[in-house]
Amino acid sequence: MIMAEQHDVLVIGSGAAGLSAALALAETKRVLVLAKGDLRSGSTAWAQGGIAAVLDAGDTFENHIRDTMVAGAGLNRRETVEFVIERAPAAIDRLCQLGVPFNQDGADLHLTREGGHSHRRIVHVDDATGWAVQAALLKAAEENPNITLLPGRACIDLITGRNGEKFSGEGRVWGAYALDEASGKVEKHLAKATVLASGGAGRVYLFSTAPRGATGDGIAMAWRAGCRVSNMEMMQFHPTCLYNLEVKNFLITEAVRGEGGHLLHPETGHRYMADYDPQRMELAPRDIVARANDDQIKRYGLDYVHLDISHQPPEFVKQHFPTIHEKLLGLGIDMTTQPIPVVPAQHYTCGGVLVGLDARTDLPGLWAAGECTESGLHGANRLASNSLLECFVFGEAAAKDILDNWDDLSDPPAIKDWDESRVTDSDEEVVIKQNWTEIRRFMWNYVGIVRTTKRLERAAHRIKLLKDEVGDYYGHFRVTTDLIELRNLLQAAELIVQSALSRHESRGLHYTLDYPETDLIARDTVLVP
Ligand code: FAD
Ligand code: SIN
Repeated sequence: MIMAEQHDVLVIGSGAAGLSAALALAETKRVLVLAKGDLRSGSTAWAQGGIAAVLDAGDTFENHIRDTMVAGAGLNRRETVEFVIERAPAAIDRLCQLGVPFNQDGADLHLTREGGHSHRRIVHVDDATGWAVQAALLKAAEENPNITLLPGRACIDLITGRNGEKFSGEGRVWGAYALDEASGKVEKHLAKATVLASGGAGRVYLFSTAPRGATGDGIAMAWRAGCRVSNMEMMQFHPTCLYNLEVKNFLITEAVRGEGGHLLHPETGHRYMADYDPQRMELAPRDIVARANDDQIKRYGLDYVHLDISHQPPEFVKQHFPTIHEKLLGLGIDMTTQPIPVVPAQHYTCGGVLVGLDARTDLPGLWAAGECTESGLHGANRLASNSLLECFVFGEAAAKDILDNWDDLSDPPAIKDWDESRVTDSDEEVVIKQNWTEIRRFMWNYVGIVRTTKRLERAAHRIKLLKDEVGDYYGHFRVTTDLIELRNLLQAAELIVQSALSRHESRGLHYTLDYPETDLIARDTVLVP
């Protein structure tokens, strides 16, 4: 058992939310940041389109608030929406100070456009915004003597014990147990305050734009520890993921449609968004465009639809989308002259651990920020490029609340070491692979873009069976990252299906043939452990 050095604050996750919190905390506190795998392994590094902020004189906070709530189908909490959107310009300023090289338009920042936005308001670094943001945040964190970055640590569970009692399921959080992925040893990381910033659960679906590690670990850990989880049925599908037999999760940014790209039937060339949303066409909110693409594919038995921007001048296309252009050229597609084959794929987890404006969870000692949370910003469907923004604002909010209340936080008590006395090395790793694939496949087929109660019940049944099998496996064998992820993936799947079964209406991303109408009053789905 390794007992790592104790820090003041433990941050789980090195993406936009975790590093924003860490940098703000490190002004006075010693912060330990843990990441599963590489420090750049989260979604942040892969963000393409950009960050939404009202920066244009012709735009207003009210416009951005309205667009966010229209996309969110009224399920958003207005005070959260105002809280985040009013802090966006300051968040962009801080990123500029950290050296993020946003594209310029003369003396101003260049603003691109994405679906659901009534104005141009997306600041970006070409079509690879996340990479630049992640690099700037990491550089600042690496240079800060108060921050220790520890990659290759897969947190297993939050420590909620009191005086040696492990996993009480109630009470306070004192840190986390984490697997050192290189040595296979389990470490105990104690802290007065813990910030969960572990990203989404996209990999619960067979097709997802999210990176490999998006297995809902933080949501599952918080749920097991006793936190409420909200709106997990609101899984966002992006309309335009590249269709390619080898490259399975490459996103084609919504900004391609923002800069004039058309969606076309691949055989007839019909611009079919006219049949679904004739006013907003390709720039309708994401749920509408994703459902239209799914409908075309299913109705006509297609493998994909076409996204075409070849009517724009080649230089314009190359200048706006250099990363995508180059990636596609490598696959034999020249987007300046040819359409791009695309399909919908899971993209973002709108639900998560319930937090307030101070980023507090239900458990004292535990704050949460970013994609693992449900803060009230996104409602039933996230507006494009509002997610990174939420990470910056809530990462800072968590840090502020911790610092404001520091004197009331007590030191961790004695906590038991991780107990490995009753487990052995697995001789049946195939169980993990089999179950992982099975979950992702039935979630795609039964809990996808268009749902029915019967399909959801089928999924619930499969989950029940798998829970026994995975629980048994977890109880007998030493933990590995794959096993930790499988256990969490299954937990996330259960939360999604339970939430979907309990919503008897269609709203935003949750569309069910059995309840096609939208209720007059918007209600959150809140699951209580
Ligand atoms: P992540 O950036 O996902 O980071 C999660 C961190 O937690 C990682 O460091 C990971 O290693 C760590 N972690 C996870 N599990 C564990 C564990 N068990 N133990 C220890 N550490 C753990 N949003 C926008 O606003 N604009 C965009 O243009 C945009 N484009 C996108 C493009 C793609 C392809 C994708 C997938 C998403 C995009 N999004 C975009 C969404 C946005 O990128 C994410 O919502 C956001 O980056 C999430 O940040 P985060 O800090 O919450 O989590
Ligand atoms: C994109 O670039 O299309 C993704 C933007 C987002 O997810 O907010």
